[in-house]
Amino acid sequence: MADLHPDNPYAPDRFPDPNKSVEFPREAKERFEWILTRYPTREAALLPTLHLAQEVWGWISPEAVIYVGSLLDLSPATVFGVVSFYNMYNQKPVGKYHLQVCTNLSCMVNRAYDIYEHLCDRLDVKPGGTTKDGMFTVIDVECLGSCDTAPVVQINNDYHENMNVEKMDALLSRLR
Ligand code: FES
Repeated sequence: MADLHPDNPYAPDRFPDPNKSVEFPREAKERFEWILTRYPTREAALLPTLHLAQEVWGWISPEAVIYVGSLLDLSPATVFGVVSFYNMYNQKPVGKYHLQVCTNLSCMVNRAYDIYEHLCDRLDVKPGGTTKDGMFTVIDVECLGSCDTAPVVQINNDYHENMNVEKMDALLSRLR
């Protein structure tokens, strides 16, 4: 069989393992029940439920897609369509710190690629890769909607604006 690119949607690890299932822990189940009270239909609660799943597991695995669908009476295809549409949902496991470098136009002309390449070199990862110790994942992303403060790097849920290589290095040292 051909060696499929890891991002290929037909790669075997993109499919759920039939011998594996996931379930929210008790506290997450309680939060899920609370989320349901905030929306008029179960389908409308999909985005916050996916956020909750990502908070619990760090990414949205194929098994989590099926689980979330079962909670909300939605097909896995519907859930996966949403997961694959939004950048903010991780379709692969990521490190403790998810370094997302915007390389769209405003950031690009303000030398975002210097930061991106420096991060990959310094952390010894390929673009989109995770360090061996599981601490950092480095990826380039499309516009983060903060073009006036380009270049921007999002680390987990926080924006770091007007960045440059020196500021990035200082930030990395604080995260270590
Ligand atoms: S281009 Fe980077 S935030 Fe818009």
